[in-house]
Amino acid sequence: MKLRTRIFHIDKNDFIGSISEAAGIIKEGGTVAFPTETVYGLGADALDPVAVRAIFDAKGRPADNPLIVHVASKEQCEELTENIPEKAYILMDRFWPGPLTLILQRRETVPDITTGGLDTVAVRMPDNKIALELIRISGRPLAAPSANLSGKPSPTTADHVIEDLCGRIDAIIDGGAVRVGIESTVIDMTSEVPAILRPGMISGDEIEREIGETATGYEDIVHHDIEKVRSPGMKYVHYSPDATVILIEGSNEMVVIKLREMLDDFRSRGARVGLLLTDENSGYLSGDELFLVGSKERPGDLAFNLFAGLRYLDKKKVDIILADGSFSHSGVGTAVLNRLRKAAETIIKV
Ligand code: TXA
Ligand code: MG
Repeated sequence: MKLRTRIFHIDKNDFIGSISEAAGIIKEGGTVAFPTETVYGLGADALDPVAVRAIFDAKGRPADNPLIVHVASKEQCEELTENIPEKAYILMDRFWPGPLTLILQRRETVPDITTGGLDTVAVRMPDNKIALELIRISGRPLAAPSANLSGKPSPTTADHVIEDLCGRIDAIIDGGAVRVGIESTVIDMTSEVPAILRPGMISGDEIEREIGETATGYEDIVHHDIEKVRSPGMKYVHYSPDATVILIEGSNEMVVIKLREMLDDFRSRGARVGLLLTDENSGYLSGDELFLVGSKERPGDLAFNLFAGLRYLDKKKVDIILADGSFSHSGVGTAVLNRLRKAAETIIKV
């Protein structure tokens, strides 16, 4: 069924007023896309199974991939969860509101569809005024995955959401571009040693400084051994543009040589090639289309521009995207690398 998707803009002089109508849609069981600091989310009342079902339908998301529930206060988190460990409180105090999702034991009130039938629930408090006000005014915790069609790059602007979901959801709040650009760090607080299930802007080192040892609970290369997958989202191909992405990792010099070689090869065979490059390498190569993700000196810029770059090159109808993986793979670079590896069909190390 095609829906009439309403688009709300924020009136700075009537901030609350401009969110109220969208909050009304949430209360009636509708779906509303909204900005967070990381990426746009597609929200619905997390405690209403019918509303949550509409999220899965709109995205074409597999039913066993659970959603993150967004809250506006610690108390709201406590209403959804039980046996919250002390270390989880330390992380909430240090990083909330912010791009950190905690996996906690769920209460019975959280429906199975929201958690993919797991006995845990993912919770986070977003650092975005619009998101927090939407939760407060609606009075509902919001289940919200990234607001893209399943498998597509996460949306960092309202236009990206419109491209993917217009006609499939009830409303979109246009709050401009997000701040971070990649999704939150996810950490499982129910295991003996807390395990990072998805890297993000808040790095493992920052977390370990607060709570001590953590484990790495993700693998960058998509694998299909479902038994071993702890975070159901990890087993699906992600962030895949229509074009085939090839990621080249290694030292700057070697990556440039390999990129040039592959560029020449693909073009001689008639393919349209898009380049996703760091600023530092922009002078050395020219493809059919180019998107610069920023300087390697500022990994936050790479995170901010990555998904927009994949979407940009797709729009330019390239057949192949050659991605420059010569940036540092520590700190935020860990998360950028993780997303690129998931988007890539082939990873070449030089
Ligand atoms: O920044 C973000 O986290 C964005 C914004 C909108 O908040 N949301 C987001 O949601 O990225 P989504 O659904 O695209 O990713 C949620 C991830 C998935 O990999 C999912 O499998 C995992 O969190 N997850 C959710 N609940 C879980 C649970 N109970 N146990 C393990 N993993 C869980
Ligand atoms: Mg997602």
